[in-house]
Order: sequence, then C-alpha cells, then structure tokens
Amino acid sequence: MTRITYVNGRYVPSLEAQVSVEDRGYQFADGVYEVCEVWDGELIDEGRHLDRFYRSLAELKIAEPAARPALKVVMREILARNRLANGYLYIQATRGVAHRDHPFPDPPVRPSLVVAAKSLAPEKGEAAARAGVKVIVTPDLRWKRVDIKSISLLPNVLARQEAREKGAYEAWLVGDDGLISEGAASNAWIVDAGRTVVTRQLDRSILRGITRTTLIELIAAEGLRVEERPFSLKEALDAREAFITGATTLVMPVVEIDGRKIGEGRPGPVATRLRALFHGFAAHSN
Ligand code: PDD
Repeated sequence: MTRITYVNGRYVPSLEAQVSVEDRGYQFADGVYEVCEVWDGELIDEGRHLDRFYRSLAELKIAEPAARPALKVVMREILARNRLANGYLYIQATRGVAHRDHPFPDPPVRPSLVVAAKSLAPEKGEAAARAGVKVIVTPDLRWKRVDIKSISLLPNVLARQEAREKGAYEAWLVGDDGLISEGAASNAWIVDAGRTVVTRQLDRSILRGITRTTLIELIAAEGLRVEERPFSLKEALDAREAFITGATTLVMPVVEIDGRKIGEGRPGPVATRLRALFHGFAAHSN
C-alpha cells in the first residue's frame, strides 16, 4: 500500500513528499513537532498533544499552520488514507520558506505543515516490555527550553546513538546539577524504597510528556503516591523499579542503568501494572 503524507495542503505519496531546501526547519531547525500514538485505529490523548503543539508554536512565535479543527480533519484523513491501526502520527510545523537569514522572515511567510503516519507492531513493544530495557546515563547537552517540543534534536540524537552503541535502548540525561532530567526521547521515573513513584517536576528542563501527565492521573487513581521532584543516578540505582514513558514506548520497564541491575533486574510490578492499565485510562479519539 502506498503511504500518504500531508504536505502543505496536499496528500501525496510519502516517497514524493517534499519541502523546500529553504524551509527554515531544514536550515535552522526552526520548527516544532508532535508524536501522537495510534492504538487500535484511535488517537490516544489527542487533545493534550494538540494543546502542547499549539503551546510550542506560541512559545516560538510561529504562526498556526492550521486551526485546530482543520488539523484534526487532516489527522483523521491521514489515519484513514494509511489505514493505520497501530503506530503514530507525526506532525511537524516550521516557520516556513524564506531566503536564509537568522531573524524571522519579514513580512512573515506561511508556516509549513507536514502530517505523516508510521505503523508499529504492538507485539514488538510488548516483547520489549516483558524483558525490560537498558538505559545509559550521559550529560544533558541540550538548550534551556526543552519544554518546547522543537525539532532541534541533535543532542537527543547523539545521546540515543551512544545508547545504541552501548547496547541500551535509552539514554538518561544528567544536568549540571548532577540530577537526571529525562530520557533523550522519554520521561524518566523510579519507584523508591517506600513504593513512591518519582519523576522530575515540570520545569524548563524536561518535556511535558503527555504520557507522563496521563500516567500521573492513573497513578493517583490507583491509590499510589507520586512525587514530582528531581532524582540522582545514585537514587535511581538504589530504586526498586525504574521505567520510562513516551507516546510510542508507553510505560517501559527499565531493568539496567549503566550496566547495574535495578531491583531484581526484571520488570517491576508497578511499571508492569501501569503499562497494562494505560490504554484503558487514556483518552481515545472517536
Ligand atoms: N518523544 N521527553 C522527550 C525529550 C521526548 O522526546 C519525549 C517524546 C518525551 C515523552 O513525551 P510524550 O509522552 O508526550 O511522548 C519526553 C517522542 C515520542 C519522539 O521524539 O519521538
């Protein structure tokens, strides 16, 4: 089946989908993106993803490439045209196409919008979750506004590559304060000795993960304690459990950090249960 991507008003075969070499996303990484999970043909937590998308645009003063109802129509069209059952939608907007010059184009140009579909086999994620994943730790080299979901991801790319080269799935990023901020493409969590679930508070040093937001509500509904505060590598190594969250990883147990076993070295009961409950709790598109 030919995959279809939406590019600036047109639905085109993905292999023919193109943007200009003068797109500011290409030249300056001057843009934002979203990754929204598709599960059983439905969008998961679409409202929260769109809220974050429009917030990222506003923070960078990029004009809205489409109003929210229009974007929702495009997202459904891409779902349908690709007959996507499981995977994700990738949404990217940039400041648009202009001759290369650092300040914003004046007069402003039309922002660029791309919406693409990617299918993922759910069995693969489930198998990974049954085994648990390994994480390494590496310095956080990113800029100071990582709460904005910008397409400028070079430090994240380098961190994930380092993880891959070391046989790990994710890299946890350590700030100048010696504390873990988050993963290169996921939020970081531990379960401490008192069974409290801990994840970094929302500030400008982490992305406000949508899976994280929904999971905090689920944890509360399950009667578990959650604390939003920073934690160190030492605390993580001493934890009962560790896990990561993201729109495509969901709740993924971590069994090893920097070559050291976490807990029993197997996926823990809290992470496993939260993963099992997640889709029953998150919002589904209709
Ligand atoms: N990454 N932190 C970072 C740095 C991320 O890139 C992501 C998501 C998250 C988790 O956010 P959410 O729960 O909203 O997916 C946290 C996406 C999936 C990506 O870049 O592919």
